[in-house]
Amino acid sequence: MPLKELLDNNRKWVERMEAEHPGFFRKLARQQKPEYLWIGCADSRVPANEIVGMMPGELFVHRNVANLVLHTDFNCLSVLEFAVEVLKVRHIIVCGHYGCGGVTAALSPHRHGLIDNWLRHIRDVYRQHAGEVDALAGEQARIDRLCELNVMQQVRNVVHTTIVQAAWDRGQRLAVHGWIYSVADGLLRDLQVTVKGPDQVDPVYRTE
Ligand code: CO
Repeated sequence: MPLKELLDNNRKWVERMEAEHPGFFRKLARQQKPEYLWIGCADSRVPANEIVGMMPGELFVHRNVANLVLHTDFNCLSVLEFAVEVLKVRHIIVCGHYGCGGVTAALSPHRHGLIDNWLRHIRDVYRQHAGEVDALAGEQARIDRLCELNVMQQVRNVVHTTIVQAAWDRGQRLAVHGWIYSVADGLLRDLQVTVKGPDQVDPVYRTE
């Protein structure tokens, strides 16, 4: 697709948006007030806003390979801090997806390069649940289960941050959710690991 087509698409999109919602961009330019922070995979098949029907301005988004939340990643932590302390989002959604390339690579013995250091964190998740994952029949089932387990771990990583725990201590309402998306049918599934307060945080990671 020639690049010009992307710019043409942009103009058509602006016309359509303005026709459907007059003054949309003028209003949006004044402020953003999203209620949700989305932490998802960079995979092109998982476009955050589209799959949850959110308009520009409704979703604050951070995406990286395999939707990881690492305590040494100042990019992700800065997004998290801004979302919680300035935007005051009410929900943080960690969303993984089945068949994730990052998770697949972490399960393979092959060396890929720099990315292996990033994906090492998924190997840690695998090591913790190797019995359960290895007992599954078929590679796809093992990958998909590790995709779910990875989301669950990233939800824990979010609530282990000082950012989220300090927000709760201030009395801020904030829930952290783990979801997984199926690229094959477009459907999201709630993994039922929502954390709504410090009482649900492992005491080892609790700060006050
Ligand atoms: Co992915």
